[in-house]
Amino acid sequence: MLIKIHKKSDPLSSEITNESVYKARRDFIRTSSTLALGGLTGLGALTASLDTHAVTSQDTHPGKKLSNYKEKVRTVDEPLTPFKDVTHYNNFYEFSTDKEEPAIVARDFNPHPWSIKVEGEVAKPGTYQLEDFIKPHTLEERIYRFRCVEAWSMVIPWVGIPLASIIKRFEPTSKAKFVEMVTLYDPQRMPGQKRAVLDWPYLEGLRMDEAMHPLTILAVGLYGVELPNQNGAPLRLVVPWKYGFKNIKSIVSLRFTEQEPINTWQATNSREYGFYANVNPEVDHPRWSQARERRIGEFLKRKTLKFNGYEEEVAPLYASMDLRKFF
Ligand code: MTE
Repeated sequence: MLIKIHKKSDPLSSEITNESVYKARRDFIRTSSTLALGGLTGLGALTASLDTHAVTSQDTHPGKKLSNYKEKVRTVDEPLTPFKDVTHYNNFYEFSTDKEEPAIVARDFNPHPWSIKVEGEVAKPGTYQLEDFIKPHTLEERIYRFRCVEAWSMVIPWVGIPLASIIKRFEPTSKAKFVEMVTLYDPQRMPGQKRAVLDWPYLEGLRMDEAMHPLTILAVGLYGVELPNQNGAPLRLVVPWKYGFKNIKSIVSLRFTEQEPINTWQATNSREYGFYANVNPEVDHPRWSQARERRIGEFLKRKTLKFNGYEEEVAPLYASMDLRKFF
């Protein structure tokens, strides 16, 4: 168990994440966990930093600088969330259910060497070393809004590759309707997996047209450096119009399927988390409103935008669907 010492000046995480939301999600995990509660005392995010400094030597693994990427291929007219907050206010249950602990617990995780398995309905299945997986592509900086289902948000400058160009290389067959992605399962290296808080390994999926959408990327970095471990090194999904939990971290496989995958949060509680998970201020989470959000670093809440502000580009994907039904 990790015992934290509070500084009086530290804001409570409940001041950042709406308190009722923070408590509700924490309580849900408490009651649904099959483990003894004694093992879960690290759950509450007791402190959080809202410092606004850029990368410093105190930050865990500031990461190798990425070079040769196209800058600002996409951007938004909103201030970036400081590096410190992007890398110290995380959801990465493989390391901890606390928001600040992933930066500490994942500090010594070594994401190299890393391989990615491509399987299922593709003409060119195989296992690829990360370097070979990435090499044929040009890295792009994409500055996107990021909205967690817990009603907080950030603006993050990712560096990555359009998922569409990766997928095309493997030549999906006509049967490929979905792509399923899985996180590394290695409880020795990801100690949070020793606890049954989720059904490991973490799994997510997209419909093929969502995966091929030009906004969807696989990120290898942020703020111009390699992805910090707590943000999903060495490879994670970024789908900016969906809630954060769709953005699966530390991916080890892509499987192309005919069947819609059941993602981890849906398997955990299908009443509250669905497959589509498109950001929608008009459809509340059963236990809290999604109409507004707290941008990390800001005091007042702001209105949540439909599809997180990407409506014009992605609404056509869902033209035939009743979005209230398919949360
Ligand atoms: N991926 C894995 N493997 N494990 C996780 O716990 N958490 C998800 C998502 N991807 C998660 C994950 C949730 S709930 C969110 S909000 C985002 O990662 C958080 O990403 P960040 O920590 O980089 O902000």
